[in-house]
Amino acid sequence: MTTKDVFDTEAAHVLQTYKRVPIVLSRGRGIHLYDDDDLEYTDLVSGIGVASLGHAHPGLAAAIAEQATTLVHTSNLYFHPLQGQLAARLAKLSGLPRSFFCNSGSEAVEACLKFARRYWHTQGDASRTEIVALEHSFHGRTFGALSTTWEESYRTPFKPLVPNVKFVPAEADALTAAVSDRTQAIIVEPIQGEGGIRPLSPETARSLQRVCDDTGALLIVDEVQCGLGRTGHPFYFQALELQPDLISVGKALGAGVPIGAALVGERVAAAIAYGDHGSTYGGNLLACRAALVFLEELMDHELLSHVLKIGDVARQQLQALAHRHASVIDVRGAGVMWGIEVNTDAAAIVTAALQRRLLVNRTAGSVIRLLPPLTITADQFSAALKTLEAAVADGEGGAS
Ligand SMILES: Cc1ncc(COP(=O)(O)O)c(C=O)c1O
Repeated sequence: MTTKDVFDTEAAHVLQTYKRVPIVLSRGRGIHLYDDDDLEYTDLVSGIGVASLGHAHPGLAAAIAEQATTLVHTSNLYFHPLQGQLAARLAKLSGLPRSFFCNSGSEAVEACLKFARRYWHTQGDASRTEIVALEHSFHGRTFGALSTTWEESYRTPFKPLVPNVKFVPAEADALTAAVSDRTQAIIVEPIQGEGGIRPLSPETARSLQRVCDDTGALLIVDEVQCGLGRTGHPFYFQALELQPDLISVGKALGAGVPIGAALVGERVAAAIAYGDHGSTYGGNLLACRAALVFLEELMDHELLSHVLKIGDVARQQLQALAHRHASVIDVRGAGVMWGIEVNTDAAAIVTAALQRRLLVNRTAGSVIRLLPPLTITADQFSAALKTLEAAVADGEGGAS
């Protein structure tokens, strides 16, 4: 198939929900992707934070191949040997004892929202009708997740959504005013991803925990983008000393194989009964096998400490870049999750980077987002940043 054939076939038959970057990617290795002319690109997007071990990771590939020739799927009607193992590892990492497996981040959020509602139903408390979410939040595109997503243009065409969601700024006073004994749950991303790489401040995190403790509202922490090692911590809520009742995970977990999970604390787990929720595919053998390989790399092969080190290098280099370029008005993030906010045309910078065969993407209008594989080396990060700096300089009219 020629590149033009790919474009034409898609244009005729794939629903036009994505305006794609006009390249056709056909293979990958490590932090590199190759197009159909075999041109090499450095990938700081990693499939939006998914290819956590890089592309074509040999250990992952071998495990997937072996699993594919053993058993791929049985449904949740029967036991298989991998789901419990994966849940046990996630429990050890998160401190929340039980997992519900699904296939995406949105489904994980959806499950958390349902389990929160189910908890209050079991308590017989019909007055807990409200959900509190933060301004700039992104929790996904299914109805529940979308209802707690801040961006108005995503929500408006799909109204009416799930009712009684209040959006508040990530500030102590606003949280205190919004959360009451009518609040079912508060949902937060410890670092907002799509909203522009905005970490919760430690002060806001303390207020958040306090209002949850004072009112009994459940705390749902959405770690779909920032969790599972991306910041150098197993989960970023741990760095903020939050105590979630529910955690949504996805993206990095399957290292490219679709899997999500709602991690559930004891209090909520006790309220869930057979048949309350389900998924045909959720937690099948192939997905669990991939996730087990990822977690083994993360925990047993020092990937976490590696990400912490890369985070230090990244912070220094990004701050230096910001000093050199007046158009860079802020850099935010941790580990291998960074946002570079500019006051020039961020889309033009992404295009200029692409011309240099560097893949980055733009979020929240003015933020260049970096989400490389967790395995990126310091040298690879520095080299990519040099290329990105040239693209930023282009955006300033060539000044560097
Ligand atoms: C924080 C957060 N939650 C939920 C989602 C939705 O995940 P998915 O696209 O896998 O449904 C995303 C996706 O970007 C996300 O960043």
